[in-house]
Amino acid sequence: MSTPILPTDQPPLMHHAVEEAVRLLQSGEVVALPTETVYGLAADALNPQAVAKIFEAKERPTFDPLIVHLPDKKLLDTVAEVPEDVKKVVTRLIERFWPGPLTLLLPKKPCVPDLVTAGLPTVAVRVSNNPVFKRVAQALNKPIAAPSANRFGSISPTSANAVLAELDGRIPLILDGGACLHGLESTIIKVEPGTPKALITVLRPGPITIEDLKLYAKVQRVTKTLLDEASEAPGQLASHYAPRTPLRLLSKPSDFTPEEGRRYALMSYRGEEKDGYVDLADWEQMMILSPGNGKLPEAAVRFFYVLRELDKLGVDEIIAEPMLEHGMGAAMMDKLRRASVRPSR
Ligand code: TXA
Ligand code: MG
Repeated sequence: MSTPILPTDQPPLMHHAVEEAVRLLQSGEVVALPTETVYGLAADALNPQAVAKIFEAKERPTFDPLIVHLPDKKLLDTVAEVPEDVKKVVTRLIERFWPGPLTLLLPKKPCVPDLVTAGLPTVAVRVSNNPVFKRVAQALNKPIAAPSANRFGSISPTSANAVLAELDGRIPLILDGGACLHGLESTIIKVEPGTPKALITVLRPGPITIEDLKLYAKVQRVTKTLLDEASEAPGQLASHYAPRTPLRLLSKPSDFTPEEGRRYALMSYRGEEKDGYVDLADWEQMMILSPGNGKLPEAAVRFFYVLRELDKLGVDEIIAEPMLEHGMGAAMMDKLRRASVRPSR
């Protein structure tokens, strides 16, 4: 059976859609919901049977833990402990960035099922600022477990149609909240005490940038081997966010010479000839991440959409231009690197 999509773009439609979503979540079902980052596949975080349905629909291995979304930041201590030695900086981060695209790893409370945290002693927590998500979470009045609403290892969905392409027939409902505001998954951090300043480790770069976080503490990024990373943020496997089409990330135009008879598509940052990539080949298709002004936030909003469209072409290879590594460029470059590692499957 095909999965219905309910619109939310008028008050009566929103009211009906939220009611349906809450009814399903209360009965232990999963529902795809928009967030400001990407669409999530939601379930009642405190109901292990409901959470199990997330893993089933996504074909996600149970060693990969889920993010818990709270209806309100005031409820943090219902699912997590905030250690005294980092309380000050955690409180400041929450005041500044919640609701929003920042996920914190904190010691978990016993009420959080082991299935949610994959048996880890920590829980990943955030509060979404998306108006549809907020309404559902507040009406349900419970923490919601929600990974990105794609099949495991695939490209994250940033529209209701992209969720449908990933999970049609596997879930009972999708709420359509339009295109996601940021287009990239939340920044995941852990906070440790330090002198004179606390230390923030960025486990997954995202919309809250390293530059943003530096105002609050010393910041470091994990650049570890696959195995080490797998234990820190198990979903951050090297081959992730992968289109089915092989993808190659270039560092400069001279890295690429087209081979006779092969079909290529270009993922271009600005689509400008002077950057040196546009004329490198007779592209089957070129898609531009930031056609408006060559700005990183615009590229981020379009990033997963463009990747998904290029993947549909059936070309031999997707060639990606590099982007600047600052701001949201860090998150996109991280994803392009992972997408260019071929999984052994
Ligand atoms: O923006 C987002 O964060 C979206 C929306 C839906 O909220 N969610 C999302 O979830 O991206 P997911 O499951 O696709 O990615 C969550 C990442 C995974 O890499 C997972 O391994 C990691 O967070 N994670 C979750 N709990 C963890 C924990 N306790 N320790 C370490 N990593 C954790
Ligand atoms: Mg994901």
